Amino acid sequence: MESKSKQFKRHTITSALPYANGPIHIGHLAGVYVPADIYVRYLRMKGEDVLFIGGSDEHGVPITIKARQQHIQPQEVVDHYHTMIRDSFEAFGISFDVYSRTSAPIHHETAAVFFRKLYDKGVFIEKTSKQYFDEEAGQFLADRYITGVCPHCGNEKAYGDQCESCGTSLSPLDLKNPRSALSGNIPVLRETKHWYLPLDQYESWLKEWIIEGHQQDWKTNVYGQCKSWIDQGLQPRAVTRDLDWGVKVPIDNTEGKVLYVWFDAPIGYISATREWAEKNGKDWEPYWKSQDSRLIHFIGKDNIVFHCIIFPVMLHSEGSYIVPDNVPANEFLNLEGDKISTSRNWAVWLHEYLVDFPGKQDVLRYVLTANAPESKDNDFTWADFQARNNNELLAIYGNFVNRTLVLTQKYFGGLVPAMGQLTENDRETLRLMNTFPEKIAASLELFRFREALSELMNLARLGNKYLTENEPWKLFKTDPERVKTILAVSLELAGKLMILSRPFLPFSSEKLSAMLRLECKSWQQAVETPLFVAGHSLGEPGYLFEKIEDQAIQAQVERLQNTKKANTQAQAPVLKPQKSDISYEDFAKMDIRTATILAAEPVAKTKKLLKLTVDTGLDTRTVVSGIAEHYQPQDIIGQKVLMLVNLAPRELRGVVSQGMILMAENHEGKLCFVTPTQDFHNGSEVK
Ligand code: MF3
Ligand code: ZN
Repeated sequence: MESKSKQFKRHTITSALPYANGPIHIGHLAGVYVPADIYVRYLRMKGEDVLFIGGSDEHGVPITIKARQQHIQPQEVVDHYHTMIRDSFEAFGISFDVYSRTSAPIHHETAAVFFRKLYDKGVFIEKTSKQYFDEEAGQFLADRYITGVCPHCGNEKAYGDQCESCGTSLSPLDLKNPRSALSGNIPVLRETKHWYLPLDQYESWLKEWIIEGHQQDWKTNVYGQCKSWIDQGLQPRAVTRDLDWGVKVPIDNTEGKVLYVWFDAPIGYISATREWAEKNGKDWEPYWKSQDSRLIHFIGKDNIVFHCIIFPVMLHSEGSYIVPDNVPANEFLNLEGDKISTSRNWAVWLHEYLVDFPGKQDVLRYVLTANAPESKDNDFTWADFQARNNNELLAIYGNFVNRTLVLTQKYFGGLVPAMGQLTENDRETLRLMNTFPEKIAASLELFRFREALSELMNLARLGNKYLTENEPWKLFKTDPERVKTILAVSLELAGKLMILSRPFLPFSSEKLSAMLRLECKSWQQAVETPLFVAGHSLGEPGYLFEKIEDQAIQAQVERLQNTKKANTQAQAPVLKPQKSDISYEDFAKMDIRTATILAAEPVAKTKKLLKLTVDTGLDTRTVVSGIAEHYQPQDIIGQKVLMLVNLAPRELRGVVSQGMILMAENHEGKLCFVTPTQDFHNGSEVK
């Protein structure tokens, strides 16, 4: 069967534009950039016309929040991280043809033109709605600027767009007790006008295109998410926001409004293509508008809806663009059993890795590919990192190459010997090594990078097996002619290893290329035999990989343990500021006594209230207390408490409450009794 990539004339390969509000970590690399880079390098080696697009996503509210916190401008935030991220990618060999950014003028223009085209075509719906406004700050509040209580799980710090505790996506109006993150005030609702992309109107197109058209070729995790979104029914999506950081809405009288970040960011792929074309004297349009171009988006799973539904609807409704042919999204990578988190500093940052493991970019590329979260979330551990380096890269790949080169150096002065009479085993080995280019390619075509990499290692294993079976080091004294053949066969295999590992381990492959003095030309080259002519002079043998010692791993593990400790300490509660002063007389008015709960029962038709019968020492009376969510009635009988006994009686849900039990929140936010530590008799005064 002809491979899918061969059916197209050119390939537009995008990788998610990372937010320029923090450095990037191994999760980014594993989920998006390493697989994208492997795929792109493979296509290039096949001689395909490929454009590999990257860039920074520089809009969005988290960036404005970060700028606010640091008392700098959003532009300064993105300038800093754009450079840092770009440099990390470069260091890891992510071979973008262009690395652009969405704060670039060419992007603002491209995004504005795109929006305007949809606007002029009448694609959008205009709607006025009520949104939260912070009167003190004088601005509408982005979802992220509103916090409150999650209606699903009770998390008190849920955001207006999502609860990070239970993962539910929310709208600001869902939150209980909303607060503005700008001023801490309670926001008010105000009317504002926005433009909506009516996704619901594209349901049948999406069904035909994805559900019917891509059931076979899209990854199950991607297809499944899309299907469930479509099955749930799509809603119009607002594509503008009341904010001042972003691409200005290109319509008159829209001061203070910008395009929603998820509207402008994917257009960033197009802007980047234009930037590349301008720089290189090329035409950008075929990469986006020609039916014989194949558009592929490499992303993480949290980006699926944007790349499979929203952006395609934008492209389709614009009319002149192609839509993605595949979206090989990955699941998430965890770190040592915990979710990677920027705010908790639970990550392996690329810029730090480069300092701690200089020159070992391929090791990380290898580990992240071997352990890629392709079909389920996966875990990165330092122990696995060390084991894969020492037991696989070094013991299998490095060892084979090293033995072959060192022996050739020793016996033949580094000149490739001629093959003599071939044994059955030689012939079989030569035949087998030539099956790998096809096998690895087949996996790559299906975006199965782990599988492809494990085949590559099988090629190295084949080499080791061949050496072990033939033991040239034992034969040299008695049969040097035979050794010539064995090493010539081994060198062929080393050459193929160099070529086929180029997409995965570009730095090591280049080193090996220098050691072999063999240029890496194309994927097809790997089935050419022989790669070497007898007498070819090899370069200096050297080490491709080196052992990673326990110490280096221990240092990383300790760093993470320290992060854990720091995080636990940092979870110190947020305290309310002290209230204004009162006089001693005010204090002395309060009559607080020790008391004991004698009986408890729920107050009918309430969730929070318990009716308590309390022995105050003075009398036995009824108190209504808002603790039903924290305590079962039967569990608090006999509980010693402190109680304000002279609070004027008040009626709560038909029950007269005579006093107030003193409570405080514990570290988990649970209301707890403030219990006298000594065994007081009831009625003792607290003074
Ligand atoms: N910045 C987004 C993220 O990190 C990805 C944006 S991808 C693009 O999740 F399509 F919008 F560019
Ligand atoms: Zn929640």
